[in-house]
Amino acid sequence: MLFSQKILNWFHLNGRKNLPWQKKNTYLIWLSEIMLQQTQVKIVIPYFKKFIKIFPNVLSVANSNINKILHIWSGLGYYQRAHNLHKTAIIIKNQYNGIFPDNFTEIKKLPGIGQSTAGAILSFSYNFRYPILDSNIKRILIRFHGINIQDKKKNQIDKILWKLIDQYLPIHNSSQFNQAMMDIGSLICIPSNPKCLICPLKKNCKYQSIKTHLIRKKKHKKDTIGLLFSIIQYNNITVLQKNNNILFWKGLFYFPFTLFNISELKWKKIKKNKKKLEINPFIHRIYNKKIYIIPQIIQIKKIFILNILKIKQILLFNIFQKEEIGIPAPMKILLDIFKKKIWEKK
Ligand code: ADE
Repeated sequence: MLFSQKILNWFHLNGRKNLPWQKKNTYLIWLSEIMLQQTQVKIVIPYFKKFIKIFPNVLSVANSNINKILHIWSGLGYYQRAHNLHKTAIIIKNQYNGIFPDNFTEIKKLPGIGQSTAGAILSFSYNFRYPILDSNIKRILIRFHGINIQDKKKNQIDKILWKLIDQYLPIHNSSQFNQAMMDIGSLICIPSNPKCLICPLKKNCKYQSIKTHLIRKKKHKKDTIGLLFSIIQYNNITVLQKNNNILFWKGLFYFPFTLFNISELKWKKIKKNKKKLEINPFIHRIYNKKIYIIPQIIQIKKIFILNILKIKQILLFNIFQKEEIGIPAPMKILLDIFKKKIWEKK
């Protein structure tokens, strides 16, 4: 049986057919594809449902303030995606009369949309025959063909894989084929301990015989960063700062911080002496970074000090009031602990 036939048969029996974005609506499909970049389906679903309740169409995104978008995106990570989503919505409003283009070249020009995402949008919206090549699909092809990736550069490998996926993509039901490949990549052909026994491609797959050279040696070791957060407190008010300078959490609000260098040894000492701190230090991981977080509470007695801080990018934040701003995941943890402490002292 042909590769594509095996995949389509698998789709009919096992493929995901009831995802909340599986409707012929380009806005929903575009939004889901952006949220699904580097993020698993089960994590995306609740964010997606919440997002479309507040932003039911592309114009509502275009007309929104970026803080409100980041507020809904908070915790999903890779915040550049939310900034690009906003930029794209504005372009669609101003240049395309609010209608998402249905042409590959036009779609690929939009912020945050590369070759694979452009293909996914057209495939899932219109069943146009465009291949998708995300990291899950790449892994299937590399394993199936036993491609030696250690002796090749990334763009060399990508070229081979684009060619292969284009050959396999059927003329009919190409969107079902694409969906099935993504599902198999995330449910069966998983990075470690793949479930080869239930894989529709097991008969001709080279993975079992030549596993070893398919694993790219890990080159980058984890970057470590130390962040000392200052939780300035006056009654229920604290200071949040909007930061556009560091690599992650762009446009989100957090406590003013100082960056510092940290080693494992130093971290162990800090953890040992944590009794001196009111909130326990903890580690947060994003991308290939390990972030050591040390919070300190600084109480101030006079409000005028806070008023001096009333400059751009600084927010005097009442912790018991709702604000529509983006807040990164570890900051949410800190805010909740801090809130509880204040509540208990009342
Ligand atoms: N990853 C990106 N797009 C996806 C989709 N439509 N279904 C499952 N995983 C995906």
